[in-house]
Formats: sequence, C-alpha cells, structure tokens
Amino acid sequence: MSIHFIGAGPGAADLITVRGRDLLAKSPVCLYAGSLVPTELLAHCPAGAERIDTAPLSLEEIIATMVRAHAEGKDVARLHSGDLSIWSAMGEQLRALKSLSIPYTVTPGVPAFSATAAALEAELTLPGLCQSVVLTRTSGRATSMPAGEDLAAFAATGAVLAIHLSVHVAPQVQATLLPHYGADCPAAIVWRASWPDEHLVRTTVGELAQTAAQGPLQRSALILVGRTLGQEDFGHSRLYADDYDRRYRPRGSAPRFPFGQEDTPVAPPEGTGV
Ligand SMILES: C[S@@+](CC[C@H](N)C(=O)[O-])C[C@H]1O[C@@H](n2cnc3c(N)ncnc32)[C@H](O)[C@@H]1O
Repeated sequence: MSIHFIGAGPGAADLITVRGRDLLAKSPVCLYAGSLVPTELLAHCPAGAERIDTAPLSLEEIIATMVRAHAEGKDVARLHSGDLSIWSAMGEQLRALKSLSIPYTVTPGVPAFSATAAALEAELTLPGLCQSVVLTRTSGRATSMPAGEDLAAFAATGAVLAIHLSVHVAPQVQATLLPHYGADCPAAIVWRASWPDEHLVRTTVGELAQTAAQGPLQRSALILVGRTLGQEDFGHSRLYADDYDRRYRPRGSAPRFPFGQEDTPVAPPEGTGV
C-alpha cells in the first residue's frame, strides 16, 4: 500500500495524466487541496472512497490521515494542483513519510505555466529571441525569497518570466521589470488557466499593474513576461530545416548518423567540430 502523490493539473478536470487518473481510481482514500483541485476529479475515486479536503488541515493532521490509511492497508491518492515539483508542499510530506517508512509514489502533472502558455497559444522559447523560462514568484506572507533570487536578478537575464503568486503585487512587479524589459515588452496575465472561467489579457510591462487592477479579484493567476509573447518575427528552428543532418533524418554525403546506426555517431572529421 502506498501514498500516491499526483499532480492534478491546472484546473480542467481532463488535464490530469492517465496514470494519475488510474491511481485515483484504485485508491480508497483521496486527500485533495480543495482550494485549487477541481472537484470533478473526485468522480474518478472508487465507490465509497473517503474524500478529504486538506485545505483546513495542518501538516500533522494530513500525515496522521496517511498513517491511519496505511495501517488499514489502504492506498491513498494525494492530489495537488498543477505539478508536484513547484510550490506543492510535497517535500515536507515526503520527508515525514520517509521517516515513518511509509512507501509513496510521485506522478507528475501539467503545471499552471504550461496551461497559461497554451491559453496564449505561445511557444515561450523561440529561436534567436529567448531560450530560457524562469519559473518564479515574489515574497509572500508565508515565504520570503532566498538571497539572490529576487525578481530583479531574474529580470536582468531577459528570460521569459512566469511569475506565480504575485498578481496582487503587480505594481511592484511592473516597477521591478521596467528597467530590464522596457514598457513595450509583451506581457500577459491569465487567471485560472484551463478552468471554465479562465480570463486572459495580453498587455505590456508598462500596463501590467493597470491590467491586474482591472482583472478578476481571483489570485489564481500567472503573469508571463517576455519578448517571445505574441512574436511573429523569429527564425525557423534548425531541427526541421531540410538540410539539417540529424540522428533520425540523415542528410548529405557523410551523415553523422547513417541509416540503421542512429545510436552510433560517426566521428566528425578532425577540426570540423560538432
Ligand atoms: C501554490 S502555486 C501552485 C503551482 C502548481 N504546483 C503548478 O505546478 O503550477 C499557486 C500559483 O500557481 C499559479 N496557478 C495555479 N493554477 C493556475 C491556473 N489555473 N491559472 C493561472 N495560474 C495558476 C498562480 O500563480 C497561483 O498563485
């Protein structure tokens, strides 16, 4: 019997993975973060399953529920919004389970930044424009940013920024970003990406605060900033260029990976580099 940590996805009930749904369907106990996980997902629980909203519980109470279910020989599905690798509070639960020798599994989910980019129909990394995306946040009441991780430091890189947990401090975000990105740099705010009441506004860094002030009062929103947003003027990726010699599409008279030998690159002639 295990505790199955499952990324529930950003909101739409059909954005959970097939593996996550199947684990949910076989677990007689489900713990879910009611504030962010769509309740439609609970329809996948088996008949008679115990469904517990963890929003009002402390960490100790959550672990006690897991310990009790484990002692009863029951699998537990533990749902968290989005993916588990960012701002999920999974780490402290895994640490407690490890110390109690209770087994667990981890199943990833679709993170909010992916759902936000999908809502914007955006590829965030475009050839020649930007090749990095920073997933970050600003300091909150419960969490301050470690030294060196302030927004200005990331803004200085010019990367696309996916700024979580910060729509309520949009004026500060705007002021921090302006000197690095300029007022005309494209930005967007997406509230509740993939939920039925998703709300999306394309804006600029110079108008970020005003856009946030005019949006829904919902805090479940993500700010995206970067030169690739809404950009049409960029080069093609070399990957699909017709003359680009690659592992699964050899080209030229001396391909690096001849047909049938995709796993064995031919050493490039001396001095040509790779
Ligand atoms: C506690 S973090 C959870 C992040 C989650 N683990 C993930 O993988 O995206 C909550 C923040 O994620 C963002 N977020 C979560 N769901 C969202 C959604 N559907 N649309 C927009 N932003 C969302 C918001 O910035 C929100 O304040």
